[in-house]
Order: sequence, then structure tokens, then C-alpha cells
Amino acid sequence: MDGYMWPIKGQSKAKRLRWGAQQNYISWAYMKELREKDKTCRVYDINPYIEVYQFRENVYGLLNQNCDGAGDVWQYLIIGPEKAMLVDTAFGIGDIRGLCDEITGGMSLVVVNTHSGPDHCMGNVLFDTVYCHEYCVHNIIHKCRPGAWDYLFDENGNNIWLQFDKKDVPEYRDYVLIPVKNHHIFNLGGDYDIELVWLPGHDSGHAGFLDHKGRILFAGDVVCSDVIGCGSGGKPGDPYRKYCTVEAYRNELSKLCLRLDEFDYLMPGHFMVNLEKGVLVNILEALNEIVADPNNFDYCMESYGGASFVKHLSWYKHVKGFGTISYNLRKGVYILED
Ligand SMILES: [Fe+2]
Repeated sequence: MDGYMWPIKGQSKAKRLRWGAQQNYISWAYMKELREKDKTCRVYDINPYIEVYQFRENVYGLLNQNCDGAGDVWQYLIIGPEKAMLVDTAFGIGDIRGLCDEITGGMSLVVVNTHSGPDHCMGNVLFDTVYCHEYCVHNIIHKCRPGAWDYLFDENGNNIWLQFDKKDVPEYRDYVLIPVKNHHIFNLGGDYDIELVWLPGHDSGHAGFLDHKGRILFAGDVVCSDVIGCGSGGKPGDPYRKYCTVEAYRNELSKLCLRLDEFDYLMPGHFMVNLEKGVLVNILEALNEIVADPNNFDYCMESYGGASFVKHLSWYKHVKGFGTISYNLRKGVYILED
């Protein structure tokens, strides 16, 4: 559409060919300013696809342009006294491991997934060991598998959504995926603790990572200045699919909202970063309204996912002062997508 999502001149070598769902104006303007003008932005020779932004003295945002037409995705690298943590592995395009080594000076790396979105876990094959919430194992294995990258190319082997070198797509290899429970603590040395906080809804085992020292919640996709999708992450055969719902997210977020004195900022998986924690209260309010009356949505429209481009109807509720929550509803009850 003319006047919508005009190109952003970022420093990444990858170039956008085509987009999936339209993204919201405010997030787009923010990303354009950040990517074209932020003074900390740097692209390293070892991985020319990833734009590296420094958000704190020890926290870096690694921006990957999304390979399948959805919103560009943030990985985060947190440097502790003895170890570093990488939150999410993106699509795995290029040498992400080497990039982390270069930024950290070769520190030992703890790699974690927020959830099973392809833009968050397909780079797992670049690492020997990855941690996730125990309810996410099935979905991550389902998503990150041999041939998982094929859908990014057409029948002639050409890129569909994002131009990047095919040789930089990783080969599938087995790695160790370690499930951990809600509130598991990862220690990065000394008193630098990062806690996994189960925040389902977008995916059954979706998790945020709470940096107690830096007072930041790395929130994954359950906080998003564009659309927070609930119910979209379920995979066939997922034994925990009942948690891929608005209600499950509401239940866990209401517990987290009792702990707001433990952190200040949110770093989500997409779009705007450095969000103030108060937005969680507004998200909770909107979730409560949906649970109380799912038919009381603000609008409803057809949307489609990047991976399949299959259109489906979604319902939307505004989050005060922020973006929207999308969910699925048929005959007055939530449904889980197939
Ligand atoms: Fe995502």
C-alpha cells in the first residue's frame, strides 16, 4: 500500500523483498528512527546481517530482519561477570555464535529461547545447548527441524521475503534442548541472576527472562508494540496447548504484576524496546476484559501468518496507550488455531 511501511535504510546486508501482515504506524516510525539514526548501531564483518545496538553497558540488542515477512526480531545479549546470556537464536542466518564471541570477548554463553516461533528458535542448531521452559520443548522440536528453512525460498530457490545468501542458512544439526521449570535461575557469575518467568499465551511454554541485576524483563512476544498474538503458537500434538490462550496469559501476568517492584524496563522480541513496566498493567487490564467478555472486541479482521500466508480471522482488543492483543474466537469461545 502506498504510504505504508516505506523502506528503512538499515545497515544490515539483508534487503527486504516482501512483507507479510502490515505493521502499525507508530512502531514503524520508531524502528525507522532507531535503525537509521541510532549512534550505537554497528554491523560486524563476522555477521553482516545483524544490526547490533547497545542498550546498556552490558546489554546488546541484536536486530534480525525477519526472514518470513513478519516483524523484525530482537535477540538480546546480556553480559554478566563470568558468563553471557543470549536470549533467542532468530532464524540462524550467518555466524551468530561468532558474533556473540566477538562482542563478549569469547565468554561462555548460556543460550535460551523465549518460545518456538521460527524467528526465535531456528538458530538453535548453531549452539550445543539451549534452555527453554519445560512446556516449550515439543513446539521447538516441531519448528526447528531438518528442512525448516525451505519455506523461505520459492521453487526456483530464490528468497521470497528477505534477500540473503542461501549459503548462510544453517544446516540442521542435533543439539541439546534442556527444559527448565518456571522461576529457574541462570547465574551469570557473582550475584548476577536471570530468572525464567513462564508467560504463556503466545505459545504454551513462552517465557520471559528477568534480569534481577539489570532490572529488565526480556519479554519475548507477549509484549509487543504492534500486535500481541494469543493462541497462535500452538503446534499439532502439543501436550500443553491449553496454555496457548488469553486466559493462561492473564493468569500468569497477574502474578507478575505483583512483582513490579523487581524490575523497571521491558525488552520485547519485536519493535519498541526500553518500554516502561507499567504497560504490563494495561495489558493485564485488556486481557481481563477479553476473558470477561470475548465478544467485546474492538475490531475484527483477516490476517495471515508469514510462514503459511494462510488467512484467518482474528479479533483485536486495544491495550491502553500501547498496541493491540489479537485472539481467536468462534461461537463465543476461544479457539486454538490449527
Ligand atoms: Fe516473534
